[in-house]
Amino acid sequence: MQDNKIVQCEVADGMMIITINRPEKLNALNEDVLNELNEAIILLNKEDSIKGAIITGAGEKAFVAGADIAGFLKAPNESGKLLAQKGQAIFLSIEQSTKPIIAAINGYALGGGCELAMSCHFRTASENAKFGQPEINLGIIPGYGGTQRLPKIIGKGRAMEMIMTGKTIDSAEAFSIGLINHVCKQEELMSYTTSILKTIIEKSTIAIAQIIKSINASEGDEVVGYETEAICFGEAFKTDDMKEGVTAFLEKRKPVFKK
Ligand code: COA
Repeated sequence: MQDNKIVQCEVADGMMIITINRPEKLNALNEDVLNELNEAIILLNKEDSIKGAIITGAGEKAFVAGADIAGFLKAPNESGKLLAQKGQAIFLSIEQSTKPIIAAINGYALGGGCELAMSCHFRTASENAKFGQPEINLGIIPGYGGTQRLPKIIGKGRAMEMIMTGKTIDSAEAFSIGLINHVCKQEELMSYTTSILKTIIEKSTIAIAQIIKSINASEGDEVVGYETEAICFGEAFKTDDMKEGVTAFLEKRKPVFKK
């Protein structure tokens, strides 16, 4: 745990817990938070001993209540595009991380917070969580990938409605439309999410990386998607982990994959 950082990274048992720690501002994403989040993702992918991560927010009220609105009025008129591109690039690096990243949503996930959660590989949430893209209420639109990821996750019509109305939905509705995979009591959110990540990191690291790459490719051109799947399958097929997994099955024992 680094005391002087807003984005706190704790590593235990091969899992990195990334906590955005600005609860007095509902963990809103200012420049420091974005930069530190970027550093955390670089570290995750560089460090062999870390196999996956969970992103969450500090406190019981918010995951992330959006981009930091406070700086908007001072920013030059022409700076919006650059601001969006910076956030997009960091969130893309989360989506394309070779190691699994789960969002554990412990409260408000609004605007950039919802976009951050959607850039993770999947999402769990506490019962009190709230989701939305309220940018329209500020006269703007989502800029950190929300118009691209939300329709892919919940469908075009629902995404149009959420983004055009700016309305907020609760965890039950988010679950029913596939925005989140699980709803937990707040006090159980981290242990439940950690148990899912633990299951994943016990699998073959190389195969997990190929799953991420292959599923991400399903969102583009279909021919490229199938081609990517074949390449990723080929990468997994030639590993010692494949030999271990198949041998363990035939020997009726639990596989032990490389760490
Ligand atoms: N950017 C900057 N500061 C934010 C913020 C954001 N996105 N969201 C909340 N905050 C700050 C508030 O300004 C307040 O700071 P203050 O105590 O110094 O005044 C603090 O966090 C607590 O928020 P507050 O609004 O008092 O809490 P609430 O419980 O009344 O309302 C929300 C919670 C989430 C409904 C409300 O904060 C909100 O609507 N936030 C903005 C959401 C948004 O539009 N996000 C998209 C941004 S592009």
